[in-house]
Amino acid sequence: MYRQSWTLKKVIYYISYRILFKHLPGDLPVFGILFQFFRRIICRPLFKEAAQIISIGQGVDFDNGCNVVLKEYANIGSYCSLGGNHGMITIGKHVMMGAHCTIISQNHKYIEPEGYRGFDGKDIVIREYAWIGDKVIILPGVTIGKHAIIGAGTVVPKDIPDYAIAVGNPAVVKKFRNEKVVKEDLCQKQKS
Ligand SMILES: CC(C)(COP(=O)(O)OP(=O)(O)OC[C@H]1O[C@@H](n2cnc3c(N)ncnc32)[C@H](O)[C@@H]1OP(=O)(O)O)[C@@H](O)C(=O)NCCC(=O)NCCS
Repeated sequence: MYRQSWTLKKVIYYISYRILFKHLPGDLPVFGILFQFFRRIICRPLFKEAAQIISIGQGVDFDNGCNVVLKEYANIGSYCSLGGNHGMITIGKHVMMGAHCTIISQNHKYIEPEGYRGFDGKDIVIREYAWIGDKVIILPGVTIGKHAIIGAGTVVPKDIPDYAIAVGNPAVVKKFRNEKVVKEDLCQKQKS
């Protein structure tokens, strides 16, 4: 289990995030950019690891953040929920995420017939440049490959390969992106 190493600063940041900064709208002109900026400043120290530039949408839930790693330019969509401090959640660089996604890195250990005893955590990794559509659910232990696309409303119980486009419940790989074209496009963007 991962635990937050609380300091006074973190407690103040956590409470102010919960009460205020979480709810500030990011889509207002001028104020939206400011609100996003404040949210980033407030959230960064709470995460296990967070790059300098990250984006946290309005209404995001992440327990206390101790099991969350956000790489450069990673984005958490509005009203997404990152849960389960028994497993690490790593969001790779330039990952785009739609709204209302759920990423959960733990299960209740269930023992029949008595009930539930503790948790079973499994790490989740979303690799660089993946695009996660709206309302996607990512279950414990899943790795989503780099440049993969996960369609809106998809439930992902198993790993998704690099460059795959996966949709449905449970996720099925429908096709693959053209790796060469994606790489060339990325090179162009990095040069410009
Ligand atoms: C995944 C996605 C990018 C695929 O787009 P595409 O490459 O144009 O794919 P197509 O529309 O040709 O669909 C391919 C197949 O997948 C199915 N499909 C596409 N998206 C699906 C989805 N979200 N759920 C279930 N099936 C889906 C199509 O019905 C089609 O099935 P078929 O081959 O049996 O006919 C797109 O459908 C999608 O879900 N985008 C996410 C939108 C979103 O959440 N935006 C928020 C902004 S971050």
